Amino acid sequence: MLTENITNKTILSGMRPTGRLHLGHYSVLENWAKLQNDYDAYFFIADYHALTTGFDKSAEVKQHIRDLALDWLASGIDPEKSAIFVQSQVREHAEMHLLFSMLTPLSWLERVPTYKDQVNQFAKTGKDITTYGFLGYPLLMAADILLYRSVGVPVGEDQLPHIEFCRELARRFNHIYQREVFPEPQALMAKIKLLPGLDGRKMSKSYDNYITLGASPEEISQRVRQMVTDPARIRKDDPGHPEICNVYTYHKFYNEEEHEEIKCCCQAGGIGCVACKKRLMAKLDEYMAPIRERREHFAANPKLVDEILEDGRVRASKKAGETLAAVRDAMGM
Ligand code: TRP
Ligand code: SF4
Repeated sequence: MLTENITNKTILSGMRPTGRLHLGHYSVLENWAKLQNDYDAYFFIADYHALTTGFDKSAEVKQHIRDLALDWLASGIDPEKSAIFVQSQVREHAEMHLLFSMLTPLSWLERVPTYKDQVNQFAKTGKDITTYGFLGYPLLMAADILLYRSVGVPVGEDQLPHIEFCRELARRFNHIYQREVFPEPQALMAKIKLLPGLDGRKMSKSYDNYITLGASPEEISQRVRQMVTDPARIRKDDPGHPEICNVYTYHKFYNEEEHEEIKCCCQAGGIGCVACKKRLMAKLDEYMAPIRERREHFAANPKLVDEILEDGRVRASKKAGETLAAVRDAMGM
């Protein structure tokens, strides 16, 4: 088999633009921000993927793209280091998807575990997503990844079946055309401690239990006030059980210096829940302030954001064009 030079340090990841991110997403972005120092990083806004389930809400995508770009920049994704771009602005994604569709057995797509799951979830809300495009979700994702000949893909556990699919497709292409055009990318799983939602369940927009990334001090205090505490604490000096209180969990996340003391005080009935929450609000606000400031800075400079996305598009197109040339060559087209 002919081997091309694919020893590289390219990593890629993306998110669908579906609205503003929340604090639960921040650890993922922090990880991306770390990785961009050691790798050749591509981060893209997966607007085509958003259409697989939101084809009827296509007009909302523009605003969501804006918000996602701001959230990334606010979280320290650095356009000097990483290429930040919009999927649909790099036409090669669509072409790669088309070419791959020719060699992807339908059965591979049908057996991706998330497929039937999602179709059923959406059916419950009265929406039929048994489209050609949605079935091809993992195929489009494989095109995204392989178009940059990425060796690593920072993703969460939920995306592992998609990465496996991508590896199989890379192998199949290389085998059919007897040329090693694509490396088999690895999932880069960070050990991320996941922040629970305000009610202790997974933080999610659909549960309305989140704190927006870049939230104002008012939003933070309103959200913290709504948190449920240990029900055993009726009066201020009732002994509490911090281990079952989500406010305490948040102190452990955001209040390194004081959480031990808060635990003891709560158990001894020496601190009231209102005061305890006040201290959490202060810490959260301190944590959020630099993120909020960066977000506001970029939001006030839309031209700058346009330039960043344009620069990302140019960098991405260059690499994508090179890969597609190698693909066409391998296929003898
Ligand atoms: N499926 C990913 C998600 O929902 C988004 C995505 C699309 C992606 N294409 C990708 C992630 C390529 C990594 C690589 O989170
Ligand atoms: Fe929770 Fe704090 Fe109240 Fe204890 S004092 S129950 S940790 S809010």
